Amino acid sequence: MQPVIKVKNLTKHFKVHKRRSGLKESVKSVFHRKYETVKAVDGISFNIDQGELIGFIGPNGAGKTTTLKILSGLLYPTSGEVKVLDYFPFDKKHEFLKQISLVMGQKNQLIWDLPAEETFKLNQKVYEISDKDYNEIVNELVELLDVKGVINKQVRKLSLGQRMKCEIIASLIHQPKVLFLDEPTIGLDVVVQKKLREFIKGYNKKYKTTIILTSHYMEDVKELCERVIIIDEGKIGYDGKLDALVKKYADTKNITLVFLKPVDKKRLEKYGEIVEYDQYKVTFKVPRTKVREFASKMLKDLPVDDVDISEIPIQEIIRQVFENGRA
Ligand SMILES: Nc1ncnc2c1ncn2[C@@H]1O[C@H](COP(=O)(O)OP(=O)(O)OP(=O)(O)O)[C@@H](O)[C@H]1O
Ligand SMILES: [Mg+2]
Repeated sequence: MQPVIKVKNLTKHFKVHKRRSGLKESVKSVFHRKYETVKAVDGISFNIDQGELIGFIGPNGAGKTTTLKILSGLLYPTSGEVKVLDYFPFDKKHEFLKQISLVMGQKNQLIWDLPAEETFKLNQKVYEISDKDYNEIVNELVELLDVKGVINKQVRKLSLGQRMKCEIIASLIHQPKVLFLDEPTIGLDVVVQKKLREFIKGYNKKYKTTIILTSHYMEDVKELCERVIIIDEGKIGYDGKLDALVKKYADTKNITLVFLKPVDKKRLEKYGEIVEYDQYKVTFKVPRTKVREFASKMLKDLPVDDVDISEIPIQEIIRQVFENGRA
């Protein structure tokens, strides 16, 4: 099977005007413009097969949105190869655009002063979808996302969660084969986030839609993505199974103890590596194999009120991946 998305040595450099501070300097810079090159994407390669749901993660400014914009034809790459469904995205062929969709949590395509349904209908026309298909598609999506009484209200009057759900419906009217979701859950409350996650999971399963998802919420990635690609400063630091990543880097767990009365830090230091300390609360980093033993010793030795044992946050693992990479 041919991969649906093929990326090889892809780069995107932006030339940005270097600002100088101070009046004299800024007058000077009008005449002698100095440019700096930002390597937003710096030689990345990966292939994605049909039906995969990939988590594309990394810190702010890592190059995620830039990559998705190249893949969906909004930006022209500086160099490298990129094929989506065998098209070069920036050619923006009608046949290509009919098969992809990009949703950006930070931007909206819905027409603000009209009901969301009007944008859906507009998309029906743009993508040349029959009334019969349109009705079936919209009814199913409205049902799944639970927005029945919502789509005929003015978009400006909707809650953020309702609007995001409608954004997603608008982007799926033409049943794209490839879907780019750039922070679709940003700013939403946990209930709506969960609902959207369930929807994305089900949709991917049912329609075998190839999905690339970016998110800063690790819950999204944990629940949805078997495979993750981690990017930082335009470079890929990891591409593979999420659970393999966790096993490889998270050979420790965090044990948090809450005390009944203040405990001195000195007294705790001899037990192991402290991640966070407060008179009433301490978090230790403990090797996976020692967790049981460690917890019972603590309960015996210290005035413990509560214990919590947790996996290291994925955010922390990502940081480690890059620290290792740079080392
Ligand atoms: N149009 C542009 N002109 C100049 N620089 C840009 C432009 N777009 C992005 N950049 C820069 O490229 C880098 C990557 O940005 P990008 O938006 O791809 O990051 P991101 O991974 O999506 O981050 P975030 O998680 O904050 O959304 C950043 O340093 C950003 O400032
Ligand atoms: Mg972004």
